[in-house]
Amino acid sequence: MSSNIKISPSILSADFGKLGEEIVSLDKAGADYIHVDVMDGHFVPNITIGPEIIKKLRPVTNKTFDVHLMIKPVDKYIKDFAEAGADIITFHPEATPSTKETIKLIKKFNKKVGISLKPKSDIGLIDKYFDEIDLILIMSVEPGFAGQKFMPQVLPKLKKIKEIITNRNLEIDLEIDGGINFENCKTAIDAGANVLVSGSTIFKKNNGDLKKNISLLRSS
Ligand code: DX5
Ligand code: ZN
Repeated sequence: MSSNIKISPSILSADFGKLGEEIVSLDKAGADYIHVDVMDGHFVPNITIGPEIIKKLRPVTNKTFDVHLMIKPVDKYIKDFAEAGADIITFHPEATPSTKETIKLIKKFNKKVGISLKPKSDIGLIDKYFDEIDLILIMSVEPGFAGQKFMPQVLPKLKKIKEIITNRNLEIDLEIDGGINFENCKTAIDAGANVLVSGSTIFKKNNGDLKKNISLLRSS
């Protein structure tokens, strides 16, 4: 039973020509968060959307905007994303000269702080900051594109982080992102994830029945 599982659909798989409507549909379909993948064509080999679009999307829902920044350098854009209406701002430690300073900057804008680890990035990049952050996002594909295959080799890292969170009694969302489907979501939850990001499964499976796909992921 996984009633405490949160689902954060990635709008990377939505129709970018009608993002507002897509987000309203996700809201009605029972999404907990809205996962917004921001890519710059530099930190990752793809370009998506920026703060101006997020600002325009903000009024369509009250759901938490879970903004995943795959941009480098990241610090100079934090203010823009905060003011655009991001609720959680997640960055990659490789995208900043000082993880500590980036955390401080996000907090200055009263936003929740997330840190993301790419599949090959080590816990050592973030272990000093567990007391200061709200979310850890474990990438289970190389960041850049929707529709890639889940990499089970990240599961030991997910388990290890879950152990630290539990042992230290911390309130940190542990999010898994990349290639999540109806078959592997239980494995990710069993390894400790409590937030599932999903793009292609939610938008493409069962003829795009968002409600069904969200509840299938949640109840796995
Ligand atoms: C990848 C992104 C994603 C991901 C989700 O860089 O961070 O959020 O594409 O899409 P699926 O679920 O299709 O892997
Ligand atoms: Zn993402």
